[in-house]
Amino acid sequence: MTLDLFGEEDLQQPARVERICTQTFVLRGFALPWAEALLTALNTLLIQSPFRHMQTPGGFTMSARLSSCGDLGWTSDSNGYRYSAIDPLSAAPWPRMPAAFLAVAEAAASAAGFKGFVPDAGLINTYAPGAKMSLHQDKNERDYDAPIVSISLGLPAIFQFGGFERSDPAQRISLFHGDVVVWGGLDRLRFHGVLPIKPGQHPVLGEQRINITLRKAG
Ligand code: SIN
Ligand code: FE2
Repeated sequence: MTLDLFGEEDLQQPARVERICTQTFVLRGFALPWAEALLTALNTLLIQSPFRHMQTPGGFTMSARLSSCGDLGWTSDSNGYRYSAIDPLSAAPWPRMPAAFLAVAEAAASAAGFKGFVPDAGLINTYAPGAKMSLHQDKNERDYDAPIVSISLGLPAIFQFGGFERSDPAQRISLFHGDVVVWGGLDRLRFHGVLPIKPGQHPVLGEQRINITLRKAG
């Protein structure tokens, strides 16, 4: 599925694309055609690199559990945030980036006006009810030319999308199974986060939300 925001297809499906900032788009249900492929690939890669809690440099335990795939995986410990080619848990390279992840990344970025996006880092977060992600910027990547593509699966979440200072007011946007958010360009360094996930059961994923964030890190 491709969706050209600025072409004719946009006119046929205007309600499916929400522009929430200059270069930030919520693509409703965009990942649904790939949902099964994404989840099958996820099950396989999680055997090699399971979800785990990570410590922040400040000594806190993140409430979401994380894993990664691709050439570079995002990690955090008492020494700081960074990308690593090796999974510290398995001491082996991260699992390969699944084809379905690459396909959604390229198609969603393209629909949001960012052509030719090829991520080398896939961060996977699982949120149990109550888990959250505090406001932060994605800024451990080598440059900020490429966009961020963020796929939501499972339980709904309230996504916060703010400004360039943590204290700036943030929009609150509900995200559902299959929604994809893309931000880049002028919006690349905006603060964003996720409010605590409300209890619930998702028909496919049960009592969790999974987010896959695709980035060009190296
Ligand atoms: C993140 O910014 O790392 C995750 C965002 C999300 O879970 O939607
Ligand atoms: Fe982020």
